Amino acid sequence: MRLSQEEEGMLAGREGHATRKAMQILVALGKIYGAEQMVPVSSVQVSGVSYKNLGDAGLEFLSGLAEDGRARVKTTLNPAGMNLTDWRSQGIDDEFAEKQLRVIEAYRRLGAEVSCTCTPYLAGNEPTFGQHIAWGESSAVVYANSVIGARTNREGGPSALAASLTGRTPLYGLHLDENREPTQVVGVETPLRTPEDFAAMGYFVGKAVKDGIPYFRGVKRAGLEELKLLSAALASSGGVAMFHMEGVTPEAGSIPTRLEKIPFTSKELEETRAQLDDGGNPDFVSVGCPHLSFTEVARLARLLDGRKVTTEFWICCSREVKRKSDLVGYSRTIQESGAKFATDTCMVVAPVEELGYKVVATNSAKACHYLRNSGLRVRFMSLDECVMEATKAP
Ligand code: F3S
Repeated sequence: MRLSQEEEGMLAGREGHATRKAMQILVALGKIYGAEQMVPVSSVQVSGVSYKNLGDAGLEFLSGLAEDGRARVKTTLNPAGMNLTDWRSQGIDDEFAEKQLRVIEAYRRLGAEVSCTCTPYLAGNEPTFGQHIAWGESSAVVYANSVIGARTNREGGPSALAASLTGRTPLYGLHLDENREPTQVVGVETPLRTPEDFAAMGYFVGKAVKDGIPYFRGVKRAGLEELKLLSAALASSGGVAMFHMEGVTPEAGSIPTRLEKIPFTSKELEETRAQLDDGGNPDFVSVGCPHLSFTEVARLARLLDGRKVTTEFWICCSREVKRKSDLVGYSRTIQESGAKFATDTCMVVAPVEELGYKVVATNSAKACHYLRNSGLRVRFMSLDECVMEATKAP
């Protein structure tokens, strides 16, 4: 790889131990993927924040870097394994909490913003079209590439952090025009009536295209909430990092004619919805995977107004969205119902399975996928149905 003088200096350790380690990671990655040079990044989103995923080895690695490392670009964090200020109400034990707080402290010393959300684009980390970024949260990677038109590969925790400490990432993959072309065309031949229909479609297409770049044709309307759920689902059943959609993706050109066609009809929609649902009586309900937008919180406030929650109900959103919801009274309405805000965390990265729950209802295909991997049963429902489930008579 061709390195600039400054990058050579980082690699030689002239800017400290952490920067050296970070540059070593990036050079190794660049060599694996055939990158010829580095490219400056304007922002970083670090995944690998929950102590549940990091463990003691991860905590030790971060603490070592924090001795002399410092973020060079805007760096935000993915959700942690608990609400950072009110973990006791979530049933988290003190030992887990102590380790989680040490992880956060290490990131804070490294200069990361303790945003703890998987929707950084709704909480102040807002790249623009064409910018090179290094994001680790897979759902946000898909959203950034496909909806915003920024450029990022699916970074792992260490490579995103390395990009933060050096301000660079190897120039390969989705940073290059030639790798951002669609690889299959998905013909959407059924109306998508709810955001959850987009989630189911994403789950089906992710499985079908694996790490390809699907081009969606025939989608009549897609807003932020639909695209957020679609992005998350594509990245969980498959390794998708980008899609094209007519009228949504800035780079989407005319419909490619010579690519493999994948039909998505009412049959695939119904079958996927059924596959995502294990049946059973939920003892835990959670929405907000990816973290909720302000509009979704507003809808929840309307649905929960005057009702009482009878099943544990977590509402996952960023601190920023919660702060706005506090200002207009939505938070109060929601909390008076007995539902709990899960800011800084979510139903997947918190140790929900260790809290004794068995069947989780959610409106996220991504959450269904990962909760199943943790040994839980899942129910796939719409946002409105989740509220009905959480407030039904015992
Ligand atoms: Fe976000 Fe947790 Fe889902 S990090 S995308 S809410 S698994």
